[in-house]
Amino acid sequence: MSADPIAASNALDRVLVLEMVRVTEAAAIAAARLVGRGDEKAADAAAVEAMRAAFNELEFDGTVVIGEGERDEAPMLYIGEKVGRGGEGAPRIDIALDPLEGTTLTAKASPNALAVLAIAEEGGLLNAPDVYMDKLAIGPGFEPGLVGLDKSPTQNVEALAKAKGVDPHEIVVCVLDRPRHEAIISELRAIGCGVHLIPDGDVAGVIAVTNPETTIDMYMGQGGAPEGVLAAAALRCVGGQFEGRLVFRNDDERARAAKWGVTDLERIYTLDDLVKGDAIFAATGVTDGSLLGGVKHRKGAITTDSVVMRASSRTVRWVKGEHRR
Ligand code: FBP
Repeated sequence: MSADPIAASNALDRVLVLEMVRVTEAAAIAAARLVGRGDEKAADAAAVEAMRAAFNELEFDGTVVIGEGERDEAPMLYIGEKVGRGGEGAPRIDIALDPLEGTTLTAKASPNALAVLAIAEEGGLLNAPDVYMDKLAIGPGFEPGLVGLDKSPTQNVEALAKAKGVDPHEIVVCVLDRPRHEAIISELRAIGCGVHLIPDGDVAGVIAVTNPETTIDMYMGQGGAPEGVLAAAALRCVGGQFEGRLVFRNDDERARAAKWGVTDLERIYTLDDLVKGDAIFAATGVTDGSLLGGVKHRKGAITTDSVVMRASSRTVRWVKGEHRR
């Protein structure tokens, strides 16, 4: 038996790998019709509907654990919704999804909007409440625990710079461009490192640390907790380190935590806490971005650019789709 606990768990049928790409392709194509139209809601609704229809073609017994919201907030792909054709012997799968990650990016035709999902064995994904999460990520190849949310931005940058054998000012940190990150950004600039500000889309921002071509070394800051679980699923497949800590800003959010069974509000979640066992991560570009190209309408065909990864085999597949119109 393999000593690697992720490799030892290959419970997800490998056939599902390509099926998941079909699902994200469908959502991306639907959302792409609304790129640049200034209507976030319509783009999201189109992606949700297409993703749900694509899931319901599949022979599995899926449960949405991270979705569009709670049942009373979201008509489709709500948390707890069953998707897939099911039937006797169908694999039971938990799903985290974001049919359109970057609704504003899509509405403004800006880069890095994605259709994205992750699946794991039943119970394999943290059922994260829809609150913010403090996130910290670095790419693969570093000693475990090199960086952590219990350390300051300066300490984390210095530790990574030392491990890479470079000066701190050579490190580039990706941060969501939000007023709440002013202190982090000032601290990073004070030590001279590059701050790569993104307007939205922190799933792509986190994954960027795994790809040297992006020149991003570290991801830092608060974004959505559901997006944190999705990004963690990708890092579990390709390697890298990720820590997340849920952020509760008021009593309503603390009540959500209790409902989700979160008792330790300060807990720092590692990759293994967020995604357990085998997992598959899939994404298709809606607009061009650092990870993937966007949907393109060509004469007679629509082309898509996707990536799909599987934790147990550590396989990463880049899939170019050509869809006849
Ligand atoms: P949406 O696709 O739901 O608009 O999310 C985009 C996003 O930028 C996420 O990538 C990120 O985690 C979150 O919003 C950040 O939230 P906020 O816009 O409230 O700072």
